[in-house]
Amino acid sequence: MPYNASDTRYNNMTYKRTGRSGLKLPLISLGFWYNFGGLDSFENGRAMARRAFDMGVTHFDLANNYGPPPGSAEENFGLLMRQDFRPYRDELIISTKAGYDMWPGPYGEWGSRKYLLASLDQSLKRMGLDYVDIFYSHRPDPETPMEETMSALDAAVRQGKALYVGISSYSPEQTQEAAQILHQMGTPCLIHQPSYSMFNRWVENGLLDVLDQEGIGAIAFSPLAQGQLTDRYLNGIPTGARATKTERVWLTPEDVKRNLGKIQKLNDLAQNRGQKLSQMAIAWVLRKPQITSALIGASSVSQLDDNLAALNNLSFSQEELDAIDAILSGSNQK
Ligand SMILES: NC(=O)c1ccc[n+]([C@@H]2O[C@H](COP(=O)([O-])OP(=O)(O)OC[C@H]3O[C@@H](n4cnc5c(N)ncnc54)[C@H](OP(=O)(O)O)[C@@H]3O)[C@@H](O)[C@H]2O)c1
Repeated sequence: MPYNASDTRYNNMTYKRTGRSGLKLPLISLGFWYNFGGLDSFENGRAMARRAFDMGVTHFDLANNYGPPPGSAEENFGLLMRQDFRPYRDELIISTKAGYDMWPGPYGEWGSRKYLLASLDQSLKRMGLDYVDIFYSHRPDPETPMEETMSALDAAVRQGKALYVGISSYSPEQTQEAAQILHQMGTPCLIHQPSYSMFNRWVENGLLDVLDQEGIGAIAFSPLAQGQLTDRYLNGIPTGARATKTERVWLTPEDVKRNLGKIQKLNDLAQNRGQKLSQMAIAWVLRKPQITSALIGASSVSQLDDNLAALNNLSFSQEELDAIDAILSGSNQK
């Protein structure tokens, strides 16, 4: 079926300024890390991408290595661009990244200029794009001088291959250094992409303050702790859920079992707010003024719809926030 985007796509989404830049992002963005690769159903990915855009999700987040196999999420996205989204290119913010292992040899990962710029060219080819909106250094490289990695990001912008640049998983100190170098080069750092969820609060120890000072936005990845902060695992570990995947092991059944007591208590609290746990988890990361967008994943249109409904209740009372803190710092007994 040919795709015509919904006429009402801008009716319900809120867009928030990214740091002190001119760019606004939707409060919820969609990531292509899982469920859009060569081993996944293309039609399911297409249905999610269409539904997201129809609901005002203007930002799709990719990386060179998303798949599996690596590169296949970008290839599938290229197909979606050609078949569905080409007329809407100027309504979309498309990001990609380079940093993790992508091809053999010393130039296929980390943060050298050689790797970053070659990888961006490959990403553009796979996606059939002239430029991406945001190009990220996917992780800090302890061996490459920060100046070199940042100069590669700056070059991507000067070559017209990226409109903005960002960094992912940089520490507060590394973020400050990167921001200063980029500022001197005349290509400000638009955005930081850190992990952030109720189960992973590292950004609260300094990073958010640096982002405030430097005027950098933040897009929180894995706000659902890869599905743990939802009702996915409340009654056991379903076949096909992320914790059962063996091709990439980022979430194990043991992680889920360890956290189950807290998940159940948080689920009760969400229900008292008239929300699903997934919705409360998204609202919770968005409560911080520095967080521009919650970068979610989904494996079905119904999960996506559930998550978008988080926007119906984003506010928390102090009592609710205290109760969440108490659950998170308390024991894991059910
Ligand atoms: N910069 C980085 O280093 C980095 C690292 C990781 C991710 N990211 C980005 O962040 C994006 C999101 O990461 P993520 O997929 O880990 O995010 P997430 O939103 O924490 O987890 C998504 C997973 O949770 C489950 N889920 C989602 N909504 C649900 C619902 N309403 N009910 C029940 N289960 C639900 C699904 O798992 P099932 O498959 O079990 O259904 C889904 O695949 C990625 O796609 C990528 O763009 C970036």
